[in-house]
Parts: sequence; C-alpha cells; structure tokens
Amino acid sequence: MSQIQVKIQERYGKEAPNATACLSCGNNLPHAGLQPGEVLLDLGSGQGLEVLNAARLVGPTGFAYGVDMTPAMVEQAEANRREQGVSNAEFRLGEIEDLPFASSSVDVVISNCVINHAQDKGRVYSEIHRVLKPGGRFVVSDVIAKEALPDEVTSDPVAWSLCYGGAIPEDQYLDAISGAGFRRVEFLSRHEYLKYGYPVASITILGRKD
Ligand SMILES: C[S@@+](CC[C@H](N)C(=O)[O-])C[C@H]1O[C@@H](n2cnc3c(N)ncnc32)[C@H](O)[C@@H]1O
Repeated sequence: MSQIQVKIQERYGKEAPNATACLSCGNNLPHAGLQPGEVLLDLGSGQGLEVLNAARLVGPTGFAYGVDMTPAMVEQAEANRREQGVSNAEFRLGEIEDLPFASSSVDVVISNCVINHAQDKGRVYSEIHRVLKPGGRFVVSDVIAKEALPDEVTSDPVAWSLCYGGAIPEDQYLDAISGAGFRRVEFLSRHEYLKYGYPVASITILGRKD
C-alpha cells in the first residue's frame, strides 16, 4: 500500500464512527435519475448514506452497492444499513482502481469526493466504463485543481488524504475520462474556492457509456 493510501485509511478510519459526517463535495444523487429496478454502484461509499438513499429509489427490484477501501467505513456503512432496515444494499471492501464487480453489471455509477484520492484517475474511469452496462451512466462529484498544484502539495500524502493533494487540472481530468472510452461529459455544477489556500473546484459531471 502506498503512503497516500496509508494516510487516506488513517483519516477515514477516524471519521468512520461519526455516522452522519458530511464528507461530500457535491450532490450527485438527484442527477442520477434513478429508476425502479436499476443497479447502482457508489465508489468510495463512506458511511453509506447515499447508497441507502439510492436503495430506496431503485426499490425492491433494484439494488445499491457501495465499495470503499477503508475497513472501518465498510463496517459503519453496514451498521447503518442494518439500523435502517435496508435489504437491497451491500457494501464491499475494495479499491476503485480494481472494482470487485463484474463487467457490464451496473446501470449507474456515482461517486462523491473520492476519485481525487486515486493516483491513477484514468484507471478508475476505465473501471467505471468496464462495470457499466451499455447505455449506463455515471454522475461524479469530485475536486479538481484550477491550475497544476505545486510539488510540495502533490508529494504530500496528508494533502491527498485531505481531498486536494490529488486534485488535477480540468484538461487532465477530462483526458482521463475520454481515455477510458466515454465520448461526452456534461458539467452539472461547478463551485470554485480555496482549499488550504490553493484554488480548486468542486464539480459534478455526468457521462454515458455508448
Ligand atoms: C471524502 S470521503 C466520501 C465518502 C462518501 N462518498 C460521502 O460522500 O460521504 C472518501 C471515501 O473514499 C474512500 N476512498 C478513498 N480512496 C479510495 C480508493 N482508492 N478506493 C476505494 N475507496 C477509497 C475513503 O475510504 C472514504 O471513505
């Protein structure tokens, strides 16, 4: 495991017991247009609240999955699922760069403030493309950099764990998506701000697999 992953697990291992913490950088679920019977996958599902909301929206004939690399988060999400009595949801331990899901098995992928943590964003989007069914869609909220961040930030594992060290400029981010096979991306929202003094943007984007 890389030092970046160690710091990410340290941070979220501490956050996990705070069952209702807001760790999001956007509001993607309303844009997903979920229909009864659909299968949803949330990348970096944290305490699982969006998965549990999605499970209600897809109903008993649908299913919502979450995947997260921090064991304490998966345990907390599962505790939340039991407490809320949701039976059509499941949380798996795993990495978004190597998803523990079959190809062409998911209608909708969502992810909220997670892909910035990944060192190979192209690989993550390739995995999204692989697991989506033809015609499937993703709605991702994430943090990008307004301009390339300095080396002292991009080489700092703690900055990566705090959701800005791994933020890359928009053109590189879109290259990662198109390189994975998605031909069109729609920007649904964009909010620019300073994070620890560095100019970043929270974006929510939608893409479809042909
Ligand atoms: C900022 S939190 C967001 C949690 C949730 N999406 C939300 O909006 O509340 C980031 C989550 O992504 C997980 N994560 C970070 N990098 C990951 C990776 N490479 N693979 C799987 N999960 C990852 C962390 O463990 C953490 O639970």
